[in-house]
Amino acid sequence: MFPSVRAGRTADERYIDNLMSRMSLDEKIGQLNLTVGGDVVSGTAEAAKIESLILDGKIGGFFNVKGVDAVSRFQHLAVEKGPNGIPLLVGADVVHGYSTVFPIPLALSCAWDSAAVAQMARISAIEATADGVNWNYSPMVDICRDARWGRVAESAGEDTYLGSVLAKAYVEGYQGDKMQSDSSMMACVKHFALYGAAEGGRDYNGVDMSRERMYNYYLPPFQATVEAGVGSLMTSFNLINGQHATACDWLINGVLRRDWKFDGFVVTDYGSIDELSRMGVAHENEAAAMALRAGTDMDMVTGRYVADLKDALKNGLVTEEMIDRACRRVLEAKQRLGLFDNPYKYCNTERAKHDMYTPEHRAVARDIAAKTFVLLKNDNNLLPLKKKGRIALIGPLADAGNNMAGCWSGYCDHNSHKSVLTAFREAVGDKAEIIYSPGANIYYNETTQGDCDWGRRISRVDDSSAHSEALLAASKADVVVVAMGESAEMSGESSSRADITIPDTQRDLLRKLAATGKPVVLLLFTGRPLILDWESENIPSILNVWFGGSEAADAIADVVFGDKMPSGKLTTTFPRSVGQLPLYYNYLPSSHPDYDPSRFNPYASNYIDVSNEPLYPFGYGLSYTTFAYSKPAISSDVLTADGALKVSVEVTNTGKYDGTEIVQLYINDPVARIARPVKELKAFRRVDIPAGKTAVVEFAVTADMLRYYDADLNYVLEPGEYNVMTGPNSQELQKLSFRLR
Ligand code: NOJ
Repeated sequence: MFPSVRAGRTADERYIDNLMSRMSLDEKIGQLNLTVGGDVVSGTAEAAKIESLILDGKIGGFFNVKGVDAVSRFQHLAVEKGPNGIPLLVGADVVHGYSTVFPIPLALSCAWDSAAVAQMARISAIEATADGVNWNYSPMVDICRDARWGRVAESAGEDTYLGSVLAKAYVEGYQGDKMQSDSSMMACVKHFALYGAAEGGRDYNGVDMSRERMYNYYLPPFQATVEAGVGSLMTSFNLINGQHATACDWLINGVLRRDWKFDGFVVTDYGSIDELSRMGVAHENEAAAMALRAGTDMDMVTGRYVADLKDALKNGLVTEEMIDRACRRVLEAKQRLGLFDNPYKYCNTERAKHDMYTPEHRAVARDIAAKTFVLLKNDNNLLPLKKKGRIALIGPLADAGNNMAGCWSGYCDHNSHKSVLTAFREAVGDKAEIIYSPGANIYYNETTQGDCDWGRRISRVDDSSAHSEALLAASKADVVVVAMGESAEMSGESSSRADITIPDTQRDLLRKLAATGKPVVLLLFTGRPLILDWESENIPSILNVWFGGSEAADAIADVVFGDKMPSGKLTTTFPRSVGQLPLYYNYLPSSHPDYDPSRFNPYASNYIDVSNEPLYPFGYGLSYTTFAYSKPAISSDVLTADGALKVSVEVTNTGKYDGTEIVQLYINDPVARIARPVKELKAFRRVDIPAGKTAVVEFAVTADMLRYYDADLNYVLEPGEYNVMTGPNSQELQKLSFRLR
């Protein structure tokens, strides 16, 4: 019997009880089916027969349908002609903006600014909901320690603490104060779990990992979003110790629901239920049952729930209760969004005309973009440039407005984005001359380039004559600015690289330009850490601009010409060599003597042919000004389990520009039940410090910062000695000690 008559149920629960009591088994299973439209392609988009699925009650939602008119048509059909008039979820990947595009998530994380992330997510929600979207496949909170993986671009980098802080900000921004507002959309945190640890950095590859590592480093950002009230979660494509993430009972029913009390619904990633049989963990006709049993509620695109769950029920592979429970979770999501009260709340065609790509949104995007650039090197204060003389602007990305937005930017108009060339010309006006030359292709090989700019072509040139023209342009200039690196599609899904240097022809050109003796500024476009060993030795200034979004070109001009200060710091380690990967700052101690950076040491844990050190460490980034750190001070050398210590450090702006510094605090537990990392980020502050002034930066150190999961997965706190370190990045730290009593 259906619990419509159960006492003590809330009005919302009774609403769903009643609705479900009218639904057939087929219709309940239909709610678990998510189909794809074809306007924005992700994976292999099929031509979805959305209308007939709606009329047959075989669909709970769809995604990748672009535009409020289409959404509105389907929503009306579902409500007016669908068997029980149930409104639909409308999904999209609004990963770093919708019509106004913000920097890629990896770049965003380099601002170390949760308010900026929340603001970008809020604006994304305003624009996406105006276009009919009510469900967003973001944030991606996968921790990544391997720069070969292209999806590092979509992540917040390698750190668990920073990743958790930012993950929460994304959810708060998307979902707003009230999810029932018509400018809020439901967030969907992804990819659960460990997707960023794909073996060899090769996308979709399996993961084999200890539970200690998962619990301490990979799972906390997901838990942070659950605590922030995220409405839904997407499983990942990968195997986890031989099980498929989408059918992983201990992870979904166990960790996520039982331990973390997640009360939203779980959707698969694209086509995952079909992967279960392909990857050898289920027979084809059992895959749907296996995923449902593990706690996965909705099937993205395979149609297997609709095709197989009824038989699975007959054969005893699933129970009716499991189907009911999944259906209820999907209906509850619709209820949380307010769709039962007003199914057309996202179908306001007027909003779509006014809320998109507004001057206000673009101004915020430009401001945020400037905060995400990381100045890696700046010899002799070559940057900022003066707006005078002759500036050569060279490189295949100098006039490629269509590539500025980076990966996952399918809802904007790439052709309307300004290129660096246009922004530079506007910025200098008639004060300086910009001499432009494309200089090179992305790759010498046309086919290889075609694989990297398939969505947004960068015109081909003849490399040999383009190199010569660029050298001629350089010879006429006072300074050379080179815009090169990866094209937008070289990072993101399915964009793993084994060679993560600046591609061939571009690097050859860069060497030739450096040999001219002209001062060279490298504007580096990339969605991942690149190997910059030669560049770091030979190019005086390197400004890493990632992919800064629709307003990136203006933001780059702002920073290059000194109207804004660079302040970003890396959230992902830049290696010296691919052979060092995976490389991350919070590693565990190795068994042999400490590595000595000054010499090769037999029987120490070092490579014969490359240093252990990163080229640029986690937390690193320069500005046009400089900062000096005092010795840190600590309020006491004893901490109690419910107390707090104050660690403070004075940071002085010793340069001539006002600036912003990101001050970092790390902790290390030198002896514990299981070995702990050499250091772990536990707090940070962004502080604005005027030139010549000193800021006192204070951190509260609490026992919570010292907890970790031990070998039995107990979340423990151990009395004893601890080190606390502060400084401008993960390597230049000053240490103090205290004792937890
Ligand atoms: C596959 C991607 O892995 C996932 O991140 C995305 O949300 C879905 N496709 C839907 O586009």
